[in-house]
Amino acid sequence: MFGLRHTVTIEPSGLRLDVPDGERLMQAAREAGFWWPNQCDMQCRCAGCFVTVVEGAQYLSEMGRAEAEALVNQRGQRALDEPVRLACQLGVYGDVTVRKTGVRSGG
Ligand code: FES
Repeated sequence: MFGLRHTVTIEPSGLRLDVPDGERLMQAAREAGFWWPNQCDMQCRCAGCFVTVVEGAQYLSEMGRAEAEALVNQRGQRALDEPVRLACQLGVYGDVTVRKTGVRSGG
């Protein structure tokens, strides 16, 4: 649907992001002026942008092979058994709550 937007709540800061349907979380954060921890500038290599999904995992895009590989390379095979995703890769399709320390709003 054109113009559909979703709310992503970031714990423990309580920051909220308004995300256009299907946009990648970290992209939306950047557009909102947020600083998001990472070392590879959304190239799907560092896994430093990872989030723990608290609520709404069903509203996230499927994990692609590149995302899975980056998670395993940086955090070990067990990362795939955890509710962990890369913010630079996941697309948002509904209201979601994630846990990520170190995110700062621009203002
Ligand atoms: S920003 Fe480096 S993997 Fe997401």
